[in-house]
Order: sequence, then C-alpha cells, then structure tokens
Amino acid sequence: MVEVNNLKKVFKLSKKDMKKEKTKQREKVAVDGLSFVAEPGQIFGLLGPNGAGKTTTLRCISTLIKPSSGDIAVEGIKVSYDPEEVRKKICFLTNELKLDTHFTPSYTIEYFGRLHGMTKGEIFKRKEELFKRFGVTDFENMAIGELSTGMKQKLSIAVSLVHDPRVIIFDEPTNGLDIITAKSVTDYLLEMKDMGKTVIISTHIMNVAEKLCDKVAIILDGKLNIEGTPEGICRQTGEQNLEEAFYKLYFKHGFGGVENV
Ligand SMILES: Nc1ncnc2c1ncn2[C@@H]1O[C@H](COP(=O)(O)OP(=O)(O)OP(=O)(O)O)[C@@H](O)[C@H]1O
Ligand SMILES: [Mg+2]
Repeated sequence: MVEVNNLKKVFKLSKKDMKKEKTKQREKVAVDGLSFVAEPGQIFGLLGPNGAGKTTTLRCISTLIKPSSGDIAVEGIKVSYDPEEVRKKICFLTNELKLDTHFTPSYTIEYFGRLHGMTKGEIFKRKEELFKRFGVTDFENMAIGELSTGMKQKLSIAVSLVHDPRVIIFDEPTNGLDIITAKSVTDYLLEMKDMGKTVIISTHIMNVAEKLCDKVAIILDGKLNIEGTPEGICRQTGEQNLEEAFYKLYFKHGFGGVENV
C-alpha cells in the first residue's frame, strides 16, 4: 500500500529554468497538496497532461527526491523516516534510467541483484524467470547498445523487478513502445496486481488507463482534480470514455473543486 498525504513539492528555479519555463517566479510548485491511497491488488493510475506533476510525485514516493511538505508511507513505512527500507520494497521504472550500453543484459541484472543484496542463487533464478517472461533470454549476452528500443525497455523492466518488490512504480511504462511490446508490459502489470502487489503507473494515454487501472487520479497543475474508478469518472462527467471525461475536466479546470467518485 502507498499512502500519499498532502504532498507538496516546490522546486527552486535556476535562471536557466526560469527562462525555459518563461516565468519570473523563482520557484515552481510542481505538486500541490496531493493525497491518494494506492491499495495492494490494484493498479492505480496518475493521469495528467505534460508538466502536471506525475513524475515528481512518483520520484517523491520512490525516495529519489524529498517532498517539501506532506508525507508518504510505503507499506506503512514513512519515506522521510526510513528511505532505505522503503527502497527495498519498491521498484521505480522511469525512462530517465539509462542502462550502460557496453554491458550485457545478463551482467546488468546480476549487478542490480548484487546491489539489492541478493545471493548468487537468488539472482540466477530470478534472472532466468524474468528474462524468459520478457523474451530477453536470447539476447542476454549481447551488448545493450545493440538491442532494439523495445528490448531495452523490457530489460529495464526485468532489471527493476530483480528484487521482487511489493510495490511497483512505473512512470509512463508503455511510452514509445509498439503495441505488441506495450501489451507484454501491461499484461505483466495485470499479473503483478493479481499477485496482490501495489502497482502505480503514470500515463497521459487515456485508453491505457481505462483498460488497465482500477482507480485513477487526474492531476492538473500539481493538484488532484478528480479521483475514482474509470467508470465512476465517466459517470460523474456524463462522458462515454475516460478520454472525453479528461477533456471535459481539463477545460473546466479552475472552476470546480476536488471530486471523489
Ligand atoms: N528538478 C526540477 N527543477 C525545476 N522544475 C522541475 C523539476 N522537475 C520538474 N519540474 C517542473 O515541475 C513540473 C512538473 O513536472 P513533472 O515532470 O512532474 O510533470 P509530468 O506530469 O511528469 O509531465 P510529463 O507528462 O511531461 O512527463 C513541470 O513544470 C516541470 O518543469
Ligand atoms: Mg513525467
């Protein structure tokens, strides 16, 4: 379970950032009072347009950056209190993660397994299982630089899962993947959910969220706009699908408060 309570993250902007963001403000409020609970056995989706605060939220949960205020508990452990322990329980997949192109998939997963303190035997068993599951086995001794984009993504997923975490956090997991590779990723997330794990993903692809997520939270400008099941949000907005519901909420943004359906 992941509990996010009144999370706020403010970034100090450098002169370069201020220019890039076209602002005179010295600070950027990326996440502003966000609260939600992601339960075990569920896939929870953070939805929102570019710059909404999805990655920032996931980075705070994953202990990569510190919240400015508010708190987050992962499996009952506060990230501010014991980030080391939280790290053992989670995996965080992000496209900012770059695998070393000179190494082989086999070496890479073994390296990460050792970082997690796993024994040789445990690493070997898990490597076989994950590489088979994601079709990496035939490529395990090639240089990563020679692999296709989809294979690299599947390898990143396998590597991130080496320690069999209870909580799976994937930032835009199907971004840039063809539909076959994307399906192998979403099928795996469904399996993880059925195994009782807590899965949190971020996406701006509404039909991925609609098919995959048990619950979604739509974030606009760092704030929770609406939270509920995809069906509940469609019902509440009177729309046929999540994409139409999202457009409606996006354009009325600024007039309504937080809703929970
Ligand atoms: N390290 C940082 N320093 C300054 N501003 C930042 C930093 N990281 C994120 N931001 C800003 O915070 C806001 C939220 O960014 P974030 O990456 O969380 O959005 P996102 O919802 O993941 O967007 P996308 O869909 O583009 O991935 C953006 O305006 C971004 O420019
Ligand atoms: Mg992002």
